[in-house]
Amino acid sequence: MNDPLFSVADSRVLITGAGGAIGSLVARAFAERGAIVALHDYSLEKIEIIQKELTTLGGKVFTLSGDLSLPGNCAATVNEAAKLMDGLDVVINSAGINRRKPISDVTPEDFGAIMAINFGAVYFVSQAAHAIMKRSGKGNIVNISSINSRYSYATNSVYAATKAAVTSFTRTCALEWAKDGIRVNCLEPGIVKTMFTEPLWGDPDRSRWLDDSIPMGRLANPEELVGAIIFLASPASSYITGQAIVIDGGLVTGGDWDSYK
Ligand SMILES: NC(=O)c1ccc[n+]([C@@H]2O[C@H](COP(=O)([O-])OP(=O)(O)OC[C@H]3O[C@@H](n4cnc5c(N)ncnc54)[C@H](O)[C@@H]3O)[C@@H](O)[C@H]2O)c1
Repeated sequence: MNDPLFSVADSRVLITGAGGAIGSLVARAFAERGAIVALHDYSLEKIEIIQKELTTLGGKVFTLSGDLSLPGNCAATVNEAAKLMDGLDVVINSAGINRRKPISDVTPEDFGAIMAINFGAVYFVSQAAHAIMKRSGKGNIVNISSINSRYSYATNSVYAATKAAVTSFTRTCALEWAKDGIRVNCLEPGIVKTMFTEPLWGDPDRSRWLDDSIPMGRLANPEELVGAIIFLASPASSYITGQAIVIDGGLVTGGDWDSYK
């Protein structure tokens, strides 16, 4: 926990989607390593439980809630988090939704809702964070994109497009903000075993098909994202910006045509 190379101690970290499966584990990982954490989620109830737990462990933890699909709320959240923590060093953009449907069934409301949180919130939270981080000459943003930015599944059209947008936006942020001392990277996880993807792994046929398609033969556990996030938020990655770290058990490396022998 004390290796200075991977240290995030005393970093002031805002995590969106902190009530979710991935966001809550990430919050715990930062708190356990001595970071000051602002948890944001749509549901205040969810993050108050996490706050209690992390405070018991000795963490300094704040909560904020609201709908980040509204750009005005994104800026207000970032500003409030920076006020509560007396600054802002790291932002983890993890809030997201999905509605799996064939393209012909997607309504304008589906389209707008997924776009607004999966891409809009990443865009406007990052924009507001940049304004604050620029003043201190340093900062670090990690976006939770998805392997779907480069590897598509049927019935996932809007979600996949938002994640491609997040990966693309990550690069542009890195380019525009490197001069301000701000690094911006993203993760591209494959399917992670959380309630978010339960409709996929909860179905025996889909689950077998998914496992068979992955060289490591299984989906990811949410804990398996934490190391990469701490790495990207720590001095260990000080010369890395604009990158996507793929965490997919080997899915996009290719296929083995002897695997069915
Ligand atoms: N689970 C996976 O397989 C997987 C794979 C790749 C990427 N991701 C991405 O990781 C992130 C977290 O996924 P998860 O599995 O923890 O999902 P989750 O549903 O457990 O967590 C997402 C959180 O975002 C919050 N949220 C949703 N809409 C919001 C809004 N409008 N305003 C504020 N908060 C809102 C939810 O309340 C929820 O707590 C998402 O961006 C998801 O796209 C997940």
